[in-house]
Amino acid sequence: MVATTVASAGISLAGLFSLAGDIALVTGAGRGLGFEIARAMAAAGATVILSGRDADRLGQAADTIANEGGKAIALPFDMTDAEQTRAAFAAIARDHGGLDIVVSNAGMRNRKPLEQFSDAELSEMVEVNLVATYRLAREAARLMRERQKGRLIIVTSIAGHVARPNDAVYAGCKHGLTGMMRALAAEYGPHGITSNAIAPGVFATEANEALLAAPETAAALSGRSFLGRLGRPAEIAGAAVFLASPAASFITGHVLTIDGGLTAKM
Ligand SMILES: NC(=O)c1ccc[n+]([C@@H]2O[C@H](COP(=O)([O-])OP(=O)(O)OC[C@H]3O[C@@H](n4cnc5c(N)ncnc54)[C@H](OP(=O)(O)O)[C@@H]3O)[C@@H](O)[C@H]2O)c1
Repeated sequence: MVATTVASAGISLAGLFSLAGDIALVTGAGRGLGFEIARAMAAAGATVILSGRDADRLGQAADTIANEGGKAIALPFDMTDAEQTRAAFAAIARDHGGLDIVVSNAGMRNRKPLEQFSDAELSEMVEVNLVATYRLAREAARLMRERQKGRLIIVTSIAGHVARPNDAVYAGCKHGLTGMMRALAAEYGPHGITSNAIAPGVFATEANEALLAAPETAAALSGRSFLGRLGRPAEIAGAAVFLASPAASFITGHVLTIDGGLTAKM
């Protein structure tokens, strides 16, 4: 039924989810959720630019994707450094002639009561988790406006719409990203650029290793999802490909939550 409808519109089902010919920048792509997003976008046909600070790790990630038949390029830069960010976008414009997709995924965590944050720690959290995405979106929008098309995807968190103790700084930044995503959808929609968010629940990535090291914490967090388990990093990838694909051409200002039902639970 779906195939007939789609075929009658002159689009193949594979074409609906294809990123062939697209240039995609994914931040924090050396590991965790960012790596899986980059890998899946490459499998969907995009040329993927992998960013982060650890050049060795990015090189290994790019090699893995290339060995799987994808097109991947490592472009290390520190998102909190305005000059490095500008230089990276200048290199993208020079080498690729533009940018179709940007995924702002890089982030950091520091779970503790607000009173225990030093000024330096507060600034670093806000810089990495919020300000750097403004900078990234600004540079991306400048390139995308030229062609009047683009896909901005921001990886937020369920902490971008609900809260728990000892997480005020991270949650505040993620709520801010949700607002930023909607405001950018409003601002850039007239220029053919969509802006959406992916809000992961709890995934078993390096970032959560310390938290999940305690078996009782791992069990408690697993038990909070309807599926009774944590997310597997690769389970984030389909949502990112979808939001970047022709299938999502009329979706903007949306938060796609991927949490095994955690935030839907009574
Ligand atoms: N894992 C979860 O359960 C979960 C849940 C909700 C939301 N999220 C969000 O999903 C995203 C990815 O999470 P993850 O678990 O995959 O995290 P992760 O394993 O800690 O990876 C974070 C990535 O961000 C990059 N990064 C950090 N600071 C950077 C900077 N200043 N400049 C450039 N890159 C920087 C790191 O690369 P380098 O070290 O090479 O710089 C790393 O690749 C984050 O935004 C996180 O908040 C994750």
